[in-house]
Amino acid sequence: MTARKRVAILISGRGSNMRSLVEAARAPGYPAEIVIVVSNRPDAPGLAWAKSQGIPTLGLDHKHYESREHFDGQLHAVLTASRVDIVALAGFMRLLTPDFVGKWLNRMMNIHPSLLPAFKGLKTHERALAAGVRISGCSVHLVRPELDDGPILAQAAVPVLDGDTPEVLAARVLNAEHQIYPHALALFASDQIKIDGESVRISGPINQERALYSPSL
Ligand code: GRF
Repeated sequence: MTARKRVAILISGRGSNMRSLVEAARAPGYPAEIVIVVSNRPDAPGLAWAKSQGIPTLGLDHKHYESREHFDGQLHAVLTASRVDIVALAGFMRLLTPDFVGKWLNRMMNIHPSLLPAFKGLKTHERALAAGVRISGCSVHLVRPELDDGPILAQAAVPVLDGDTPEVLAARVLNAEHQIYPHALALFASDQIKIDGESVRISGPINQERALYSPSL
């Protein structure tokens, strides 16, 4: 069996997606292991949870760095020292410098609560409701220097229902996020994807249909 890929998860807050990755990685045969969780907010609840699970954690307070470049330089040093293969952003609320993104090109993924390329950025659910879309969802993508941009690894479609508030829709989408992120990481870590320009092709035994996933309500 090939060695499991070493994954760092970067968070800023609650960390529910991190938790879904940690829990998935406990399954025998899962192709990745979580070797460190880093937060730019040392008081992030998700960091305390990861620590309680015995996972190495690090609070790297961005306020202690004079520039984005210094912060990202330190982050890169930490990831390199932990021999990280893949970086998984999970609610990491900080822009990364193009230099850092370049160093982790095609080795760093992110989850966003919309069907990209629609509704990049913040206040996703508010904007989806204002636009009147009937289907929203979530996307896991490889990270590019532009915000919420990059080849899409997996998406889940989630219905928008009459009377939805941003909070209600967010909770429905979050449930789908917890399903597709572990799936996308498994695809990626088991080398079952090929990056073809700015899109991704899936090969190998993992069912392709699961990369377009419609969870039941
Ligand atoms: C998720 O909705 C994720 O898609 C977005 O930020 C939120 C983080 O939630 N990038 P959590 O910290 O994983 O619970």
